[in-house]
Amino acid sequence: MVGIFKEHERHSPVMLGDVLDEFEKVSKRLSSLVAIDCTLGQAGHSIEIFKNLKRGVLLSIDKSKCSIDWVSRYYCFTEKKLVQDNKVWEIIHDDFANLNEILESRGLKYFDFLIADLGFSNLQLQQNIGISYSNQSQKLDMRYGDEGIDAATFLNTVTKSELEQILLNCVQMQKSLVGPVAQAIVTFRQKRKFVYVKDLVNAIGKFGDRVKMKVFHGIRVHINQEITKLYKLLEVIKQRQSELGLSLIISFNSIEEQVITSCLGVHEIREPNITEIVSNVQARSAKLHIYKKQIS
Ligand SMILES: C[S@@+](CC[C@H](N)C(=O)[O-])C[C@H]1O[C@@H](n2cnc3c(N)ncnc32)[C@H](O)[C@@H]1O
Repeated sequence: MVGIFKEHERHSPVMLGDVLDEFEKVSKRLSSLVAIDCTLGQAGHSIEIFKNLKRGVLLSIDKSKCSIDWVSRYYCFTEKKLVQDNKVWEIIHDDFANLNEILESRGLKYFDFLIADLGFSNLQLQQNIGISYSNQSQKLDMRYGDEGIDAATFLNTVTKSELEQILLNCVQMQKSLVGPVAQAIVTFRQKRKFVYVKDLVNAIGKFGDRVKMKVFHGIRVHINQEITKLYKLLEVIKQRQSELGLSLIISFNSIEEQVITSCLGVHEIREPNITEIVSNVQARSAKLHIYKKQIS
């Protein structure tokens, strides 16, 4: 066991085979390369990319301090770096929306390979941050990093109409449900404040599991500004990806897909095969978006 985390509960990297196949294609074209993992998590993708990197640098970013600390301990980093032969792996505690600044501060103009595996990791499910409605005793926080307000403060202060907009925009909740769900939340807090996951579960209990999942998802997307951050990342990808490079984005829902398609235009999309879906529940709704500037 490392830190709070048991090895058998480690995050299983989604579509790893496809990711490594694409990485190999870029590696064959370039003798030295700059690779970016925007979502380090528990380094499921990063470690395999680093093993396959022959020469160059891998920068792995995560806004969760817990992820950075876990990887740093697990792989024995010194000062957030691991140096081996002709290659360096650096882990960076930051938001991927700041990729421009991250590259600039290291004197890098372009990257050659990028992966972003969106959402949260198993590590975060086990932290006390209330991402899932099934962890009822956890605090309602939902922040991946430490910026912005936590979910409890948000739910105790948001207006009913703002909440309705968020449920519509962030998770495309059915219009007929948006008003009643927002009303149930506002009514609950007139009696007591939101603190724990169980408070939100109680407030919307009568709507059933599908709606509960959507509400938790919508609030998480809003709290972490997931759509805005994704737009920012995609803009940097368009500007900073080298001519022979490629970017992979793994999305998990239709809003992310729409954002990626509207920003990157026509690109290849792959889905996990049935074997992976059966063995890794996290892969169930995954879609791998492959963006290249040149057709190879
Ligand atoms: C699905 S997990 C990645 C798992 C990783 N690929 C692995 O195999 O272990 C997503 C990670 O992205 C991080 N994340 C989400 N949004 C982010 C953002 N805007 N900037 C940086 N990291 C972010 C989360 O904190 C989480 O650790």
